[in-house]
Amino acid sequence: MDKKTINLGFIEKIPLGQGFCFIVEKDEIAVFRPRSGGLYAIQNRCPHRRGPLAEGVCDAQTVICPYHGHKFCLQTGKGSEAGEEVRVFPAREEEGEILVDIGT
Ligand code: FES
Repeated sequence: MDKKTINLGFIEKIPLGQGFCFIVEKDEIAVFRPRSGGLYAIQNRCPHRRGPLAEGVCDAQTVICPYHGHKFCLQTGKGSEAGEEVRVFPAREEEGEILVDIGT
């Protein structure tokens, strides 16, 4: 599949230290803006029971699912429970806007 970059708009849409769910071509992508810096995008639905990860608590490296507390690495998508993993989408900020690569 070819790489495609999507512009999700101004970074201020995401409060510092939180996540925000964007609908991108019928997929839900959770974008996080940790207080320590950086920008991360992962699939929004938790592989356990579809918890909305964008509503979870995040720190510099992980997000905790709001439903049952499973943790996911924002960089690799690896989960705290065996076999659980979420998709990761490369994300960056350019001139105050959020760019995410999908389809990779
Ligand atoms: S739905 Fe995410 S931990 Fe259960």
